[in-house]
Amino acid sequence: MPAPRVVALVPAAGQGVRLAAGMPKAFVSLCGRPLLWHCVHGLLESGCVEVVVVAVGEQHRDQARAVVAEAGERVRIVTGGVHRCDSVRAALHAVPDAEVVLVHDAARCLTPVSVIQAVVQAVLAGQPAVVPVLSVVDTIKQVSPDGRVVDTLDRAALRVAQTPQGFAADLLRRAHQGASALVTDDAGLVEALGETVATVPGHPYALKITTPFDLVVAEVLAGAKATGQA
Ligand code: CTP
Ligand code: MG
Repeated sequence: MPAPRVVALVPAAGQGVRLAAGMPKAFVSLCGRPLLWHCVHGLLESGCVEVVVVAVGEQHRDQARAVVAEAGERVRIVTGGVHRCDSVRAALHAVPDAEVVLVHDAARCLTPVSVIQAVVQAVLAGQPAVVPVLSVVDTIKQVSPDGRVVDTLDRAALRVAQTPQGFAADLLRRAHQGASALVTDDAGLVEALGETVATVPGHPYALKITTPFDLVVAEVLAGAKATGQA
């Protein structure tokens, strides 16, 4: 296979503590298929991702391989790490020749292909780092450790960051060289380098399934999608 140009890295090695489903979140079922299946399927269905690298816990490699078996050699499985950034870095090492790299949470498995395509197009058009974002609908309060409000933030300037986040591969590699475990998204690492991060419109379907409530919402959304109601 020639060196892939656009590669998606899927960190899927988390424990899913907040979902509390008794298994890592990536293997929890949504409409009869694991979250990981939905995530990989969406990336490949976008038509602009050549190879997907999935990072899972060492003991879940075989299970992950079985979940994505139908995609054949377009999907590679690697062993993730303790923190999300360790898992992303492990996946990045597996594709040294990639030119454009997406990083996409397995937990955002209902992301529309249109969002994936918009991110890839923006990077291919010359943006070195691209993040899908949503406006904030709630008023956001900054609070002190003891729970008192210290400030009300200007909602107009705030956005919720989603994935896939897209990068020129060299920039992402540089960003991960000094990665801090405290940074929860890859764009944050790029920002720390002082580089510009562009935005494209995100989508409510790209929600991160984190809690049992989110899974209920996702079941409804997936059902609506399947029946053409959304
Ligand atoms: N992730 C990962 N490796 C880790 C931690 C997280 O690959 N060491 C992945 C998760 O599998 C998920 C994504 O990063 O797809 C976003 O993380 P999160 O939503 O926090 O998932 P979990 O860490 O699994 O959930 P929790 O924090 O509730 O345990
Ligand atoms: Mg986590």
